[in-house]
Amino acid sequence: MSEGSQAQEFHGKTPRHIAIIMDGNGRWAKQRHMPRVAGHRAGVESVRAIVQRCGELGVQVLTLFAFSSENWRRPEKEVGLLLELFVMALQRESKKLDKRNVRLKVIGDLSRFSDKLCAEISKAETMTADNNGLQLVVAANYGGRWDIGQAVKTIAGQVQAGKLDAAVVSESLIEQHLSLAGLPEPDLFIRTGGEQRISNFLMWQLAYSELYFTDTLWPDFNKEELNIALEWFAGRQRRFGRTGDQVEQIKRA
Ligand code: IPE
Ligand code: IPE
Ligand code: MG
Repeated sequence: MSEGSQAQEFHGKTPRHIAIIMDGNGRWAKQRHMPRVAGHRAGVESVRAIVQRCGELGVQVLTLFAFSSENWRRPEKEVGLLLELFVMALQRESKKLDKRNVRLKVIGDLSRFSDKLCAEISKAETMTADNNGLQLVVAANYGGRWDIGQAVKTIAGQVQAGKLDAAVVSESLIEQHLSLAGLPEPDLFIRTGGEQRISNFLMWQLAYSELYFTDTLWPDFNKEELNIALEWFAGRQRRFGRTGDQVEQIKRA
């Protein structure tokens, strides 16, 4: 089946933005009596496959939760290995991303990362900055509350400096200062690994996303699993507060 007919298969309802909590690496490794880091390594393979597939499908934005602001609470050794893996993935993959016309952006509080990691991030972002295919967003040391907090801080600073009237602070102004400013909100949220929680991911931007949870562990999440999620998504009626009849009427008009 060609990629074009695949898009048709989803009734022309391919999400513009997919956001994923890639969970279950540790359990995947444990099932195989392997160290947790083996699960994270296998998880990188899934990332590669899903990025490629989203590019082929014409998805505009793919946001992946790689490391949360709470993940520092893990054993120091696991945190170290995760960050090392991130450096390696950037070194190995950025040229391939560039060839695939993918634009990379990392969001999160980078101030806690090593100079080496920050340099690799900025190198990969610069290398891919002019690409106009899939926008790949990697959330690292990211927290939804941190994101809203840093936006509020910037706005409050502008008000304090007399550059902004507090009366003009609005939802859209706050949005302009969030990490995903200017990008469409996630249409489809996917969490692998069986948990049904947001874990401080995109707190603001998920307000109207369709939430898809699967027990499949992230290293087992592949193109076929993504197809199932996309089929599920295509079957949702997105009402945004309206009645179902209203939505049908708008569609016919
Ligand atoms: C997700 O897998 C990866 C990160 C949080 C970095 P986990 O490491 O949380 O895997 P489980 O939940 O322990 O199986
Ligand atoms: C969420 O997974 C963060 C990432 C996938 C990066 P966790 O495994 O850390 O989430 P909790 O702590 O179980 O909610
Ligand atoms: Mg987990």
